Amino acid sequence: KFYRVAILGATGAVGTELLELLEHRNFPIADLKLLASERSAGRTLKFKGENLLVEPVSDRAFENVDLVLASAGGSTSKTWTAVATQKGAVVIDNSSAFRMNPEVPLVVPEVNPLAAANHQGIIANPNCTTILMTVAVWPLHKVKPVQRIVVSTYQSASGAGAKAMAEVKTQTNAILQGQPPVAEVLPYPLAFNLFPHNSPLNDLGYCEEEMKMVNETRKIFGTQKIRITATCVRVPVLRAHSEAINLEFESPFSSDEARKILNHSPGVKLVENWENNHFPMPIEATGKDEVLVGRIRQDISHPCGLELWLCGDQIRKGAALNAVQIAELLVEKNLLKVNKAYVSS
Ligand code: A2P
Repeated sequence: KFYRVAILGATGAVGTELLELLEHRNFPIADLKLLASERSAGRTLKFKGENLLVEPVSDRAFENVDLVLASAGGSTSKTWTAVATQKGAVVIDNSSAFRMNPEVPLVVPEVNPLAAANHQGIIANPNCTTILMTVAVWPLHKVKPVQRIVVSTYQSASGAGAKAMAEVKTQTNAILQGQPPVAEVLPYPLAFNLFPHNSPLNDLGYCEEEMKMVNETRKIFGTQKIRITATCVRVPVLRAHSEAINLEFESPFSSDEARKILNHSPGVKLVENWENNHFPMPIEATGKDEVLVGRIRQDISHPCGLELWLCGDQIRKGAALNAVQIAELLVEKNLLKVNKAYVSS
């Protein structure tokens, strides 16, 4: 079977990666629509050697579509997901709009693939830092339940989109030429700097990004019991996120055992060269499908604690790849139907 696919937000950082992944993973596509805002009307993007025209999104654009991969921000997603599902398409949405909706599965294929079967037209792609953390922690959690997670993130500019990535480059150039850096997309200069994640703060002082890690991880793991606290920070890296993760189990979990498990876990690649102090780095995670994990060590401050460090490509596994893997899962499990309302004769 071949499917009619639309990418909403095709010109963005995640959208262009979706396009690349659909091509290289040979997703069974009968027809591909590239949708963005009016600003991108007339632009073309390459797919399988062909220049495809980008269309401004509209009601009609979702006719004759079986699957929508959406990455155009929360409010845009809300508006157009309603239209797309009403017209019979299944939407895999990368925004936070539907993630905590109890009727919407939140899926990381390496962790909770079965959840996808309960979809009612929308499947949510989790937050990028959450995806990377769950891929690395789930294999350990399956062996011995994690009781508490303390995570600190080092998040690249790509999390704020293609314009933020361009802004960091411009700021870097400006500073190298002795000019003041200009911040228009992000609230503060990121080049040669870092700042706590700029999402809205709640009454407890946690930002939205941190609460996403807390709430989404619990939903994906299917348990409200894990205690999680997070500190999210933006750093001047272009496109891969890093995370320092402290895990607390109910009994000791040896670093050797953890290493053995993670060495055979789907979506994980161990990067640990202790002699040369070589561990996961954003530049080595960039463009890779796997989450790179290393520095697995016993927590000297707690007998049941384990420390690990990871890096993962935020645009790839943190967003586009996870969405395409969900789409592949739907195809494999026959959970994606050809939208009969618009089958052309
Ligand atoms: P456009 O390029 O036309 O602005 P990023 O996350 O890299 O910033 O990308 C966001 C993506 O979402 C882009 O493809 C952008 O299109 C698209 N987008 C943003 N706002 C809208 C909107 N109101 N309607 C449709 N697409 C939108």
